[in-house]
Amino acid sequence: MRIIKATDYQELSHLAADFFIERVKENPEVTLGLATGGTPRGTYQRMAEDYYKNHTSYSRVSTFNLDEYVGLPADHPNSYHQFMKTHLFNKVDIPAKQRHLPNGVASDITSECLNYERLIEESGGIDVQLLGLGSNGHIGFNEPGTSFHARTHVVELAQSTREANARFFNGIDEVPREAITMGISTIMKSKEILLLVSGEEKAHALRQLLHGDVGEEFPASILTTHQNVTIIADQKALSDVPHG
Ligand code: PGA
Repeated sequence: MRIIKATDYQELSHLAADFFIERVKENPEVTLGLATGGTPRGTYQRMAEDYYKNHTSYSRVSTFNLDEYVGLPADHPNSYHQFMKTHLFNKVDIPAKQRHLPNGVASDITSECLNYERLIEESGGIDVQLLGLGSNGHIGFNEPGTSFHARTHVVELAQSTREANARFFNGIDEVPREAITMGISTIMKSKEILLLVSGEEKAHALRQLLHGDVGEEFPASILTTHQNVTIIADQKALSDVPHG
């Protein structure tokens, strides 16, 4: 794993956006794996600014998001469909047919998971997957205890995840209890992974990732076995890492 140290969230976002822009320039047909949450917002903002200023085109790029809440329709303000529109899709030129997120209101959720996995495979697989790190070590919505062999599946969200995400809702009671997420095995098949870690509240998780054992109780630990992972972390996130 390569670690790039950023001073703060702003620099992290800048570096992460440049990372993606470079990949898109190298391969205009790149397939990107995208993430939601607080961490990637600055990255998307910088990508949008670059698009506005420099016209980097995404017209042949395909995207697959990591996850979506079960029960929230695409137009729900807290759905990840909506998040992606607000923060990226409405601001750059990725054609709608090339943007993919799991359908959280599919009538047959099991088929939806299989179908999502199939679409990723048919696209040739994910070239670069963006990830955030949960304080409990989750990646996507793969909570502690998820099998490393899991493919796209439905998960019950950990209480700590629902609490962390309650800030985006009018309180925890509104946070869905389940989500569809790419599995760990889906994520590990990505050719390259970019993990963003920002803030003191992630310091413990980053330390565990870099210095702990590999095991399903800390899902992100599997990333240490992937051959092409870059971590961009800011000083606060690195504050608990020896020699960080
Ligand atoms: P965050 O979430 O970016 O909102 O901190 C990351 C995650 O839980 O995967």
